[in-house]
Amino acid sequence: MPHAWISPEPKVGWKISEPLPSPKGQMSTNNSHVHNEVRSHANTRRTFAIISHPDAGKTTVTEKLLLYSGMVRTAGMVGSRKSARTAASDWMDMEQERGISITASAMQFPYKRAVINLLDTPGHQDFCEDTYRTLTAADSAVMVIDAAKGVETQTRKLFDVCRLRRIPVLTLINKMDLPGRAPLDLMAEVEDVLGIHANAVNWPVGSGQQFVGVVDRATRRVSVFQKKAAGGSAKAGRAELSLDGTEVNELIDDEALQRVNHDLELLEVAGNPYTHDAFLTGNVTPVFFASALTNFGIENFFDAFVDMAPAALPRTADRPDGSEIIVDPIETPFSAYVFKIQANMNPRHRDSTAFLRVCSGRFERDMTVTHHRLGNEIRLSRPHSLVARNRHTVDVAYPGDIIGIINPGQFAIGDTISLGKGFNYKPLPQFQPEVFARIHPTDVGKRKAFDKGMEQMAVEGTVQILWSLDDLEFFVGAVGRLQCDVLQFRLRNEYRVNTRLESLPYECSAWLDGDLHTFSAPSDALVVKDQRGRPVVLFRSPWSKNFAKERNPNHDLLEMG
Ligand code: G4P
Repeated sequence: MPHAWISPEPKVGWKISEPLPSPKGQMSTNNSHVHNEVRSHANTRRTFAIISHPDAGKTTVTEKLLLYSGMVRTAGMVGSRKSARTAASDWMDMEQERGISITASAMQFPYKRAVINLLDTPGHQDFCEDTYRTLTAADSAVMVIDAAKGVETQTRKLFDVCRLRRIPVLTLINKMDLPGRAPLDLMAEVEDVLGIHANAVNWPVGSGQQFVGVVDRATRRVSVFQKKAAGGSAKAGRAELSLDGTEVNELIDDEALQRVNHDLELLEVAGNPYTHDAFLTGNVTPVFFASALTNFGIENFFDAFVDMAPAALPRTADRPDGSEIIVDPIETPFSAYVFKIQANMNPRHRDSTAFLRVCSGRFERDMTVTHHRLGNEIRLSRPHSLVARNRHTVDVAYPGDIIGIINPGQFAIGDTISLGKGFNYKPLPQFQPEVFARIHPTDVGKRKAFDKGMEQMAVEGTVQILWSLDDLEFFVGAVGRLQCDVLQFRLRNEYRVNTRLESLPYECSAWLDGDLHTFSAPSDALVVKDQRGRPVVLFRSPWSKNFAKERNPNHDLLEMG
């Protein structure tokens, strides 16, 4: 009997006038007319980041999301973005090719009836601070796991950040077309290594070359896929059948059917229950199986993601008196915070862009808002967003959206802006630097350009920049060595300054609270100051830091993390 292959052509007509229903479990607000527009748009937003270990398939999944959204006609146009490769040279070549870069910024595009805001997180662990800041702007995360490799180190670290922030995580087990581990094994590993309940939403039929489809556990409908193009550049064909009907025998062999039925029975008995609240609070992760390369199962995943992932959630902010308030995305007039600053994205324009996450209300181009830290009014002109690699002017934006504003120096990471006043979004934490170096221009005639470049890098938080107490020397503190390499690369490429970097033997640091003149530093420590002029002590070892603490009971040594 012939089977109806569902057309892989784009489904017509995502319209903003047809908002998605509020995602399950979403906090609802009153029905005031004033807020209806914001609510209907905000409910369509899905603002998320992909977390994964290098090579698990983050780039491929992103490409396929663009393919299935209709943003690109054939996959392979996003370009390889292997910023996660360990060699610094690869990373920098790649960034250079991309014109330094869309790393850790965001792309916006419609997917069916949703509007996706996909935040890009750098893959390399030396950039965990960047990633952390970016994840503060996400409402959910998609964790991509390689079916052959299971949960890898970088995935675990990024997952820990999501857990800390209570970001709901969906899990996509990728590369099912290759020989991999047993699905039940992978589920157990997610639970054991990450300490989260895993609940399979769908289940693979076959694996490796015999991976032919996925079964939706709730409906027992099987999607059976058909390859349409080599390398998955075109959407896969798909037939939908009941697992319990007779037709299924014609597309799936007996052995695979028996196995899938057996696994599903096991899951019914031993699997975790799923509730939407448990997902939203980060206590359970829904799990999906797919092959991003061949497109098998990938549309099922995206559809489920749009249905399950939350739109902008209320956020906690600090009042000047130290108390906290919950900022409602719909009812609070426009507010946003800066989670990333990046200069020189376009080599022809020496501009710096501040990326803002809209947390509440309606943003309009050219609107005048209060800059909370500076206490003045600013006009938000030339806002833009990125679709694939192209910049677009933004006229309006809603909670969940990311806007880039050309930043002539008035923004710093963590700044809050709003139409009202009286609160600040939570400060973005800094990571403890573990690598320290002295840096200076090789050509003293380039000092001015060097100072300018270093100032910009400090604003962007590329590395932590420290000064000697007499202001004559620059030091840098970084989470990893690659950050220092990137600093030098950017100074050379964007400011035409070659630099010399001398590694210093310090391993940890602390802010010094107390009178600098009475502080008795260990002989092998160095006292410097940070961007805000606060004294910072660099120590050769945690032991030396403890020794300094004991020797200076009237001073406090505060963690820089
Ligand atoms: P990343 O961004 O997480 O680092 O991973 P990326 O998507 O670049 O994927 C890493 C490699 O894994 C790529 O192969 C990619 O084609 C492959 N890959 C991704 N998803 C799948 C999948 O579902 N099945 C299979 N079989 N392979 C997959 P590469 O050879 O390193 O690069 P390329 O030459 O294909 O670009």
